[in-house]
Amino acid sequence: MKLCMIGTGYVGLVSGVCFADLGNNVICVDKDTKKIDLLLKGKIPIYEPGLSELVNKNYRNKRLKFSTNLKKSIIESDIIFICVGTPTKKSGSSADLSQIFNAAKEISLSINKFKIVVTKSTVPVTTGDQIEKILRKKNSSKKFSVVSNPEFLREGEAIRDFTYPDRIVVGSNDKKSNRLMHSLYAPLISKGAQYINTSRRAAELIKYASNAFLATKITFINEIANLCENTGINVEDISIGMGLDKRIGGRFLRAGPAYGGSCFPKDTKAITSTADKFKTNLSVIKSVIRSNESRSNLLLNKIYKILNNKVKNKKITFLGVTFKANTDDMRDSASLSMIPALSKKGAKIRYFDPTGYKKEFSKLKNVQNFENIKDSVQNTDLVIIHTEWNDFKSINFKNLVKGKKFTIYDMRNIYSPSKIRKQGFRYFSIGR
Ligand code: UDX
Repeated sequence: MKLCMIGTGYVGLVSGVCFADLGNNVICVDKDTKKIDLLLKGKIPIYEPGLSELVNKNYRNKRLKFSTNLKKSIIESDIIFICVGTPTKKSGSSADLSQIFNAAKEISLSINKFKIVVTKSTVPVTTGDQIEKILRKKNSSKKFSVVSNPEFLREGEAIRDFTYPDRIVVGSNDKKSNRLMHSLYAPLISKGAQYINTSRRAAELIKYASNAFLATKITFINEIANLCENTGINVEDISIGMGLDKRIGGRFLRAGPAYGGSCFPKDTKAITSTADKFKTNLSVIKSVIRSNESRSNLLLNKIYKILNNKVKNKKITFLGVTFKANTDDMRDSASLSMIPALSKKGAKIRYFDPTGYKKEFSKLKNVQNFENIKDSVQNTDLVIIHTEWNDFKSINFKNLVKGKKFTIYDMRNIYSPSKIRKQGFRYFSIGR
């Protein structure tokens, strides 16, 4: 099939290249000429394991194209995926849909034959209805169908998540578009992926409800971890004990810093704001947002306690600063609130991240980037393991530093407390 992906951000680029790999002809379009120029040179603007190889393979075999010409790309395609950003509005907590509606207006001017217009971006319930209205202004409703097909890709695991999805959700209000979408996904369905067809509004809500539920699960275990710390219990025993109940499931029960990233913080806010508009109070999700927003402060207080409230001039090393491992994404990372707070109190921050220097800290006093773990921990007072990269999972701390021993605050519970303490290090973790 001939596909057009509008927006070459995370969602558009990953799904575009994966669709090309399944044998479709895909044009990825973006207004950002710099991004398209990079992609045309075989360079990938984001860090995602395996993406570069897949882009280059499909670009070489000509199934994948990059363009800034939206009109031409729409005319040449059968299915158009809207994959633009839906960030939180500058004021308030609802989603800013301006990029979605701009894309819909552009599409409405170039419908030359029947097209399926699919929203892959995360959009509030009834956005599909509004897109349909925009398209109908310039076109007969027989010429198009608006479908919701949310993506559930995790950064760092995106290609695997696309290829082996738990489910494919397609929300359509007519049989023709459902049939075509089903055949687009046939190669994944034949390998066992569950395909569910719902109303368009239901598909829009499935995405938000799923992300809000996962955010709730993480926040729940984070609060249980707080209780474990005060009662001498290991939170990992709780996660295993709860997770073995098939109704609960063991995934997303890892306690840690506040959840971050491009989806959970934004989507939890957007779903409560949409619900408010429909006079529905999603009080559970509202309290999840509050709890998560206060989590970085809670962990900061623990850091102050570890340092006996003497933060000034203390050398603190962060191992990993992104919102989680296997990504270079800093969006809503807990480090963005913890590092400035510590720097303000006079601490000397060093950090090492496998994805390198971060411009987010460039204006802060006393924050220094290091190229490797060893240099970043020399003469340090406290090492904070902030993300769970494999690079941090088998560090021989004893061999790293000769002499002066530092304290370790392992926010991802990577190490065994007894083994690290046996090596003579003070060691703290989360909920144990
Ligand atoms: C998420 C959803 O998982 C994905 O389906 C959706 O399409 C986009 O949003 P992503 O943001 O890439 O994906 O990351 P994810 O792996 O879900 O982690 C989100 C946050 O939760 C991270 O900060 C992570 O560290 C945290 N997390 C996750 C935990 O603290 N504990 C867990 O057990 C799992």
